[in-house]
Parts: sequence; structure tokens; C-alpha cells
Amino acid sequence: MIKNITVIGSGTMGNGIAHVFAQYGYNVNLTDVNDVALKKALDTIAKNLDRQVSKGSLKEEEKTATLARIKTYRDLKESATKADLVIEAASENVNIKLDIFKQLDEVCPPQCILASNTSSISITKIANVTKRADKVIGMHFMNPVPVMKLVEVINGYKTSKEITETIITLSKAINKTPAVANDYPGFIANRILIPMINEAIISLQEGVGGVEEIDTVMKLGMAHPMGPLQLADFIGLDVCLAIMNVLYDGLGKDKYAPCPLLVNMVQAGNFGVKSGEGFYKYTAGSKELVVSDMFRK
Ligand SMILES: NC(=O)c1ccc[n+]([C@@H]2O[C@H](COP(=O)([O-])OP(=O)(O)OC[C@H]3O[C@@H](n4cnc5c(N)ncnc54)[C@H](O)[C@@H]3O)[C@@H](O)[C@H]2O)c1
Repeated sequence: MIKNITVIGSGTMGNGIAHVFAQYGYNVNLTDVNDVALKKALDTIAKNLDRQVSKGSLKEEEKTATLARIKTYRDLKESATKADLVIEAASENVNIKLDIFKQLDEVCPPQCILASNTSSISITKIANVTKRADKVIGMHFMNPVPVMKLVEVINGYKTSKEITETIITLSKAINKTPAVANDYPGFIANRILIPMINEAIISLQEGVGGVEEIDTVMKLGMAHPMGPLQLADFIGLDVCLAIMNVLYDGLGKDKYAPCPLLVNMVQAGNFGVKSGEGFYKYTAGSKELVVSDMFRK
């Protein structure tokens, strides 16, 4: 039975994953090499729990109990020796992840399941550095984790059916909806989403439509909550480009070639929300959507 969960990486995704599991009664060891990131993660979790309390979806005592279930660690070995499940949500860098999984395989109990929240790195490749490839799986949460219902469950080449079933049951236990995918570049979510965003950027580059027109068509015409260009800014254009490159390298078809405008914007440092400008301009504290001067008519 899964009770003790170690989360590796306490950034955007790691703090959300820790929050949700602790809220549903699991003991969480949240681990990061960076002290500042750990402190920020606890502050973010407390702030997000406060929001749930003020909305009436959580009681004050549940907030206190949730926070009490989260312990923070710098050292992976200390945090993972008693884990039933580890969810790795460290930076999207293949060498970092392979190194983490090698260490986890050495220190975790033999029955412990090792999951990765990677957006695009092969689960099979990660599993292959361990001696328990049957117990390695993808658990791809969406941002923001406490709000988004989906968990994409990714079977590596050697993941056992029993482990997949355990992760499906666990995802339901934290009130998420699992969808199982096989281990091909981009899995399901990014195989479909990122080429759509890339096509929106090609449409902008070719002058088919402006930023607002493209986003309006997809929002109002296709009932998407956010247009693809705004979504790209939110995800980060550097991340979108990295995933397009994974699709292009892994699938080898021209249709996955990253749009030159996307490449230029990343090279110029216009990553979207995190850098303050992408297709739109972002000013701290303002919710108004203002098109970047680069795309004004
Ligand atoms: N941000 C998203 O929208 C999103 C969505 C789905 C999946 N993901 C995936 O989740 C993972 C984490 O992404 P993020 O956006 O939270 O990144 P982030 O940069 O916000 O956080 C990554 C954290 O990992 C820590 N870290 C780096 N190396 C480490 C190590 N060896 N041991 C422990 N901690 C380490 C960093 O200090 C940092 O705090 C990535 O694989 C990413 O592809 C991200």
C-alpha cells in the first residue's frame, strides 16, 4: 500500500504534487538541492491552501494537517529510504534525471515505484538506468497541479501492468483522472498540444492572422479556455521549443520542425510570462492581456 511519497524537485510542479498528496492524507518528503526552492515551495503550498480555505473547499484544520504531513529534505538518500513511491519532478534535463534515478534505485526499498513527471524525456530511457524497469512509470501532472484534473500515466517499454494499475488507482485516490499513454515522443498531451501551438506560430509568421485573431478563433471557435499563443507564453516558449525538438528528433518528420519565429523568439530571450514578454507583454500585478509591440499592426 502506498503511504509514504517522496517528491524530488520542489519547483512549479513539485510543490503542487506535494500539496495534493499531503491534502489527501499521504506523508510527503519534499526534496530539493536548493534551500531557497524548498522554502518557496512551502510558502506557495501554504498560500494555495489558504485560497482553498477562503473559498470554503477546505477547512482550516485540514490545511494545518496537510502542512504537517510535508517534510523537507536536501538529501535524496535521507528522503527516499522509506518511500513506497517516488515522484521525480526535477528540472527537465536528461542527465539530471538519469543521475537521480540511478541514486533512487540504490536507496529505495525494492518494492518502491519510481515515477517521473517529465514532459518529454523517454520513460524507457530513464527506466534503463535502474534495475527495476518494471517499476518505473511516467506520472505527468498538469500545471497548476492542485487545479488540473489530468494525470497522464505513461508506460515505459518494461513497465508492468500491476504497476500501471497501482498508479491509476492512486491517481483516482487524489481525485485526478488518469489517462494511460505509451512511451513515444511527447506522449499524448504534448504530441498534440505542442504541434498545435507551433502551427499557430507558423500562421502568425505567415500573416494568416494576428496574435489576437489567432487566439480569438481558437478560444471562441473551438471553446479552448485560452488561445494557443497565450498558452505558449504561459508554458514558456523555451519549453515549447525544447518539446518540438524532442518530437522532431524522435519522429523525424518535417511536420514537427520548430517554427523559425519560435526559434527566434527563444534566441531573443522572449520566453513569455516568465521573462515578461512573448506574444503578449506581462506586467507584475496586471491581468490585462497586452499584445507585444513586436506583433502590433
Ligand atoms: N512547468 C510545467 O508546466 C510542467 C508541466 C508538466 C510537467 N513538467 C515537468 O516537471 C518537471 C519539473 O518542472 P518545473 O516546471 O517544476 O521545474 P522548476 O524549474 O520549477 O523546478 C525544478 C526543481 O528541481 C530542482 N532540482 C534540480 N536538480 C535537482 C536534483 N538533482 N535533485 C533535487 N532537485 C533538483 C531545482 O532546484 C528546482 O527547484 C520537468 O520534468 C518538467 O518537464 C512541467
